[in-house]
Amino acid sequence: VSLASFNTFSFDYQAQFLALVDDLETLKRVVHWAHSHQLPITVLGGGSNLLIRDHVSGLVIVNQLRGKRLVSEDAETLRLSVAGGENWHDLVSYCVQQGWSGIENLALIPGTVGAAPVQNIGAYGVEVKDVIARVQVLEIDSGQIYWLRAEECGFSYRDSHFKGKWKGRYIITETELCLFKQPRLVLNYGGLKSQIHGESSLRTVFDAVCAVRRSKLPDPNDIANAGSFFKNPVVSVEEHAVLKQRFPDLVSFSFADGYKLAAGWMIDQAGWKGRQHKGVGVYEKQALVLVNHSEHQAASLLELESLIKESVFERYCVQLEREPVELPSVVTAKSHSKES
Ligand code: EPU
Repeated sequence: VSLASFNTFSFDYQAQFLALVDDLETLKRVVHWAHSHQLPITVLGGGSNLLIRDHVSGLVIVNQLRGKRLVSEDAETLRLSVAGGENWHDLVSYCVQQGWSGIENLALIPGTVGAAPVQNIGAYGVEVKDVIARVQVLEIDSGQIYWLRAEECGFSYRDSHFKGKWKGRYIITETELCLFKQPRLVLNYGGLKSQIHGESSLRTVFDAVCAVRRSKLPDPNDIANAGSFFKNPVVSVEEHAVLKQRFPDLVSFSFADGYKLAAGWMIDQAGWKGRQHKGVGVYEKQALVLVNHSEHQAASLLELESLIKESVFERYCVQLEREPVELPSVVTAKSHSKES
């Protein structure tokens, strides 16, 4: 079965088996079926943060679980549990309509609620980890369903254990968010404030985020892409000082114990913005985003990735890291050493 319509790069690789699942009982059944046939399981959400580079053997499950429920509330906050297959932007829109604050800065991020914790989606000064209370998972090996507290999930910048040491272990069935009944607006991200027309409110912040995103990020329905293709590298205070001296215009933000460098700026400065390469290219309005114009397979994109990494390393001595998740999963060093 072709996976072309299940990844926003539109790469046309095959899945051996594919199941679109919209209720928990069916999910348990298909997991059991895969186990009984000794097939590996791969889970997809919206496919919008995914780089498929080969055919995928075993069963691919597309999480289409639906539903939202109010779990609890007090005077100031509420807990909302949302099924993994719900569309993320529709949820943001719904919360803004209800007057619930916490995720308005995360408007228009493509993908599903179940995928949001995997890479800890973030934008305009907010990360989803800031509002996640807990995550409900189906453990693939045991078939058990249980909750993981946010503190257990290893959330950090565009990362979590779901992407790391737990890769392939769980299917995220629900995400429970803690939201605020009064607006708690986060307006410190450069450029956002100037986009807000009139008074700051949930609605005007939501509208501003949508406008900024529409102005620089390609809609995957129009141009195939997976959002930022690289992470913004984090460097120490010392490394930052050296770079800043050589490149006074360097765009960076203080982050944790060091600095986050704007990878888009480095790629742009290295001359890549808007460039085409064998059917793929660097988006003309945001150099951090790679786009696929006409390719059915990932080879040209992987080539472009290497060229950009080399060129940025040559210029800035900074190693860029890829942001989207790769499929089929690469063999980890750990399982490799077990075999040898
Ligand atoms: N810049 C350039 N040229 C470019 C792109 C960026 O000079 O082509 C410079 C500009 O100075 C700009 C700065 O870099 O002010 C930062 O750019 P931007 O605000 O667009 O944000 P970003 O750091 O490139 C990150 C996220 C985005 C998120 C925005 C806003 C990552 C990997 N990317 O991009 O997330 O929307 O901030 O918060 O952290 C995604 O993860 O898919 C994604 C789109």
